[in-house]
Amino acid sequence: MAEKEVVETSEAQIAVHWQEEEYIYPPAEFIAQANMTDKTIFDRFSLDNFPNCFKEYADLLTWYEYWHTTLDTSDAPCWKWFVGGKINASYNCVDRHLKEYKNKTAIHFVPEPEDEKVEHITYQELYVRVNEMAALLRDFAGLKRGDRVTLHLPMTAELPITMLACARLGVIHSQVFGGFSGKACADRIVDSGSNVLVTIDSYYRGGTLLDHKEKADEAVAAAAQDGQKVDKVLIWQRYPGKYSAKTPLVEGRDFIVNDLLKDYYGARVEPEKMDAAEPLFLMYTSGTTGKPKGCQHSTGGYLAYTAGTSKYVQDIHPTDVYWCMADIGWITGHSYIVYGPLAIAASSVVYEGIPNYPDPGRPWRIAQDLDVNIFHTAPTAIRALRKIGPDEPKKYNYQFKHMTTVGEPIEPEVWKWYYEVVGKGKAVIVDTWWQTETGGFLCSTLPAISPMKPGSAGPGMPGIHPIVYDDEGNVVEPGTGKAGNICIQNPWPGAFQTIWGDRDRYVRQYYERYCKNPDSKDWRDWPYLTGDAAVVAADGYVRILGRIDDVINVSGHRLGTKEIESAALLVEEVAEAAVVPVAHEIKGKEPDLYVSLKPGYEASEEIQKKVMDSIINEIGKIAKPRNVWIVADMPKTRSGKIMRRVLAALSNKQPEGDVTTLANPEIVEQIKQMMQG
Ligand code: WT7
Repeated sequence: MAEKEVVETSEAQIAVHWQEEEYIYPPAEFIAQANMTDKTIFDRFSLDNFPNCFKEYADLLTWYEYWHTTLDTSDAPCWKWFVGGKINASYNCVDRHLKEYKNKTAIHFVPEPEDEKVEHITYQELYVRVNEMAALLRDFAGLKRGDRVTLHLPMTAELPITMLACARLGVIHSQVFGGFSGKACADRIVDSGSNVLVTIDSYYRGGTLLDHKEKADEAVAAAAQDGQKVDKVLIWQRYPGKYSAKTPLVEGRDFIVNDLLKDYYGARVEPEKMDAAEPLFLMYTSGTTGKPKGCQHSTGGYLAYTAGTSKYVQDIHPTDVYWCMADIGWITGHSYIVYGPLAIAASSVVYEGIPNYPDPGRPWRIAQDLDVNIFHTAPTAIRALRKIGPDEPKKYNYQFKHMTTVGEPIEPEVWKWYYEVVGKGKAVIVDTWWQTETGGFLCSTLPAISPMKPGSAGPGMPGIHPIVYDDEGNVVEPGTGKAGNICIQNPWPGAFQTIWGDRDRYVRQYYERYCKNPDSKDWRDWPYLTGDAAVVAADGYVRILGRIDDVINVSGHRLGTKEIESAALLVEEVAEAAVVPVAHEIKGKEPDLYVSLKPGYEASEEIQKKVMDSIINEIGKIAKPRNVWIVADMPKTRSGKIMRRVLAALSNKQPEGDVTTLANPEIVEQIKQMMQG
C-alpha cells in the first residue's frame, strides 16, 4: 500500500473551527419554482441504485447513440461512463437549443470599462460564431479529433466560443488561466503536446488594457526550449479590426483570428460524434510535486454531471439570468459558466474584469442592469466586497433567488452578510465543495430540499457518497466531532478520467491510500481521496477544513508549495526555500515564504525582490507570497528536514510548540525577532 503522505504543515492544521450554526430554511417562493423538490431523489441515487441512477442526468442530454453500459470498471480506477454512447458537447450546448431558444441570449458579455457596450450573444449568434471558429481551427490550423490545443484567454466571449469550437471538432482544449505567466502557459503547452496556441491581443483588468500577446511570445519561446514547437499562434482581437498589443506579430507564426474568420463566414461544421469517454478538455491543477497535472475530463460523463448539477443545484431555468463571477480559466468556469449552464439553455454572464472596478458597487449594477437572478462567487470575493462596500448592495434594485459560494470554507459571519445583504434575506445559498478533479459538485445542499447551515457545505450530492477515514483507515463516524480525510466511496460521471500522460500518478495520488485491493475491478474497493480534511456533523453536513497535502488555497485557487519553492530556488543566491500557508483576511490563505542564502551572500531587499519576481514570472501574480523572509538558517530536524510546522506557527503568530528536539532550536527565536522587526 502507498506510503502515507506526511505533510508537516497543511491548511487543515491551521484551520479555524467555528461553532455549529442553526439551520436556515429556503423561502417558499424559491421552492415553488425550483427544478428539484422531490425528496425521493436521495433514494433514487442511493448506493443500492448505483450506477444506473446517473441515467437521470445523462437523459438531460441529446445523444447520437444511446449507451449500452452505464459504468465500465474493467480498467479500475479509470472509470468509463455511458459506454457505447455517442455525443457532442458543442451540439448539446448550442445547436439543440436553436429550435426553442434561437433568439434568447446565451452569453451576456460585460466588458470591464463601464462605457463599453454589453454584448448579448443569442444562441443563434453563438451557433454562427462557434461554427466559423471550428472551421478555422480545422481548415486553417489543421486541428482534428484527439489533438490538444492550448488556450490562454481571459474573460471575454471568445473564450467559450473557442472552447465550443474545439468541442465541436473533438479537439481537446486546455485553457490556461489568463493571469498565469507565459512560463506557466509554456509548461502546459509542453505537457499537453499542443502545437497551436489560441490567445488574445489584450484585455482589461483593473482599468488597464493589458498586453496579453507578450505572454504568448514568452510561452512559445519557453515551450521550444522544452522541445515543444508551437507552429501557430492564433490571436483574437479585443477590439475586432484593431490590434491592441504593443508586441509585434511574428511572421508566419502569428495570425489574427478576426481577419482569418472572414474566409469562414457562413461556414458550418458537422459536430464530431464522440464516444462518451473521449476527452473533452484538460484542466491543469497544482499537486504535491512541482509539476502541475492535467486533469483529463470526459465528454459524456462530464457533460451529464455538469448539466444535472446546473439544473438541480444551481436551479437554472432557461428564463433565468445566471452569473458566475469565477474565471473560465478555472474548473468552476468550465463547469458552471460554460458547459453545465449552456447545456441546459441558460443565459450566462461573462464579465471581463475585477469585481470592484471601478467601485465595489459594480457587481450589483451588473446584476441590476441584466436582471441577474442567480449569482455564483467565492468567499474571497464576498469578503473583499463586504470589506470595501458593505452597504453597496442596498443601493441597487436587483433580486437574487439563488446564490453560490465555492472554492474555500466560508466563515459564518461572511456567509450571513452574503445572505442578508447581498441576498437581501430572500435568496437561498448553496455552499458547493468540489475540485478541479471532480468536474462538478461533491457536497452541497439541494436548495429547495435541504436547509442551509452557514459554514457547512452540506451533505453529499445525490449519488455522491462521502466517507471520512482516519490515518489508520478506520471510518470516522458523523457526529463524533473528529476530523479525518474525506473520501468518496463511489465513482461519478463528472470525475476526471486520469492525469494526462501519467496514469500511475493518478492512481497513486487519488486511489492508493485507502484502496482495499489493488487488483480489484470493483469500484467499492477504490475510495477516491480528495486531499481535504473534514468534519461531518450528525446530520451528515460536511465542513471542510482545508487541504491535507502541500497545496495552499489562495482566494479559491490552488497553488502547490513545491511550485512556489522551485520558482524561489531559481534565484542564484537562494539555497533553500520553504513556503507555508498563512491565514489572510480576504484571500483565506496566503503563501508566506522563507529562504536561506548560499554562503557568501548577504540578505538584501534586492534579493527579496528577485525572489518575488521569479515567482510572478514562473507562475503569475496570484502566487506572490506575503513576505520573503531571508533567514540565516531554516529550523531543521536532526536529519536535516525543514520544519515547516514551526515556520507556519511563526507566520500565523501561533505558539511554535516544543522546538528543543530541533538540530538548531536557537534559530526559532532569531527568526521570531526578525519578524517582529
Ligand atoms: C479545493 C479544490 C471547486 C472549484 C474551485 C476550486 C477547496 C473548494 C470548497 C468549499 C471549502 C472548498 C478544497 C478543495 N474547496 N470548494 N465549498 N468549502 N473548501 O477548485 O482549485 O481544484 O480546489 O478547494 O480544499 O480540495 P480547486
